[in-house]
Amino acid sequence: MKHLIDKLEQTGSLSRDEWSALIRGRTPDLAEYLFERARAIRHKYYGHDVYIRGLIEFTNYCRNDCYYCGIRRSNTSAHRYRLDKEAILECCTKGYGLGFRTFVLQGGEDGHYTDEIMVDIVQSIREHFPDCAITLSIGERTRESYQRLYDAGADRYLLRHETCDADHYQKLHPESLTAAHRQQCLWDLKEIGYQTGTGFMVGSPFQTPENLADDMLFLKKLNPQMVGIGPFIPHHETPFAEYTAGTLELTLFMLGLIRLMLPKVLLPATTALGTIAPDGREKGILAGANVVMPNLSPVEVRGDYLLYDNKICTGDEAAECRKCLERRMNSIGYDIAVSRGDSLNTAPVTAE
Ligand code: 5AD
Ligand code: FES
Repeated sequence: MKHLIDKLEQTGSLSRDEWSALIRGRTPDLAEYLFERARAIRHKYYGHDVYIRGLIEFTNYCRNDCYYCGIRRSNTSAHRYRLDKEAILECCTKGYGLGFRTFVLQGGEDGHYTDEIMVDIVQSIREHFPDCAITLSIGERTRESYQRLYDAGADRYLLRHETCDADHYQKLHPESLTAAHRQQCLWDLKEIGYQTGTGFMVGSPFQTPENLADDMLFLKKLNPQMVGIGPFIPHHETPFAEYTAGTLELTLFMLGLIRLMLPKVLLPATTALGTIAPDGREKGILAGANVVMPNLSPVEVRGDYLLYDNKICTGDEAAECRKCLERRMNSIGYDIAVSRGDSLNTAPVTAE
């Protein structure tokens, strides 16, 4: 199998059969070999810097009903909240003082945040923090809406494709949501000019190595600036409450593969990875990741933005999260960078 890793490093791609064979046939030795290669490439482009993004979870209302997600509409036991513009700006002010130069506004698909309201929020952040990047992660919207938000000053957009395969997608989502529409949104975002991030859960229910192979092929085609992946973790109030979580081992392996396939991509070691293992994020960095996304949300609402069970960092102040991550990164020989941390992956939109 080593030859497939070498081929991936040399050519930047594999066939569907090669991807699934490599994922199915992985061993601890092979993983170690992969991580060494992935780290070498990461050091070549990004050195030992780890970029930080301040995550502001500004609403947990959601119109959707994804079977895996703890803030799905049908979860009537979720305590719902929204942050207004002033509260969001306060998070940014606090974050700026802590060295954050990217703010990620993430939320459920909440109809309250019309284009007018979102444009106003984005413009205000842009005005107050001209040297910062603004990232939105607010789900599927119309192309026109994406354009208006871009024109208002948003630079980046995160929208995980979740799974590329249409049948698998339908096992994770109700009929109102489709893989095709999700992917169309991503092409629209890229065409508009956003630095675009996509990604998927590892070990989601019914996922096969072939599904992961298709996800890799999709990533190759989309060529996004960022790729967010993390293990699926069950939430007790969802239809997937009894399914097993994705593993640390497979998530790390996929991180290493993504680094080899897209050498310059921004790759976070996610909170979900830190949730399934106490040193999950450190291991993620050592497998090729180069971004962490500490929580900047007000402490009062953190315990309500629960996409999955046992989420870490729900009780800590932003400053504590920042220090904690600094310590963790230093302990493995990496440094947190105070900068926007733009992607070096700037190839123009090519397909679709
Ligand atoms: N476990 C892990 N990740 C989840 N997400 C949603 N629910 C879960 C879960 N139960 C991920 C989805 C979504 C992102 C914001 O969080 O991939 O795109
Ligand atoms: Fe909100 Fe899936 S339940 S996006």
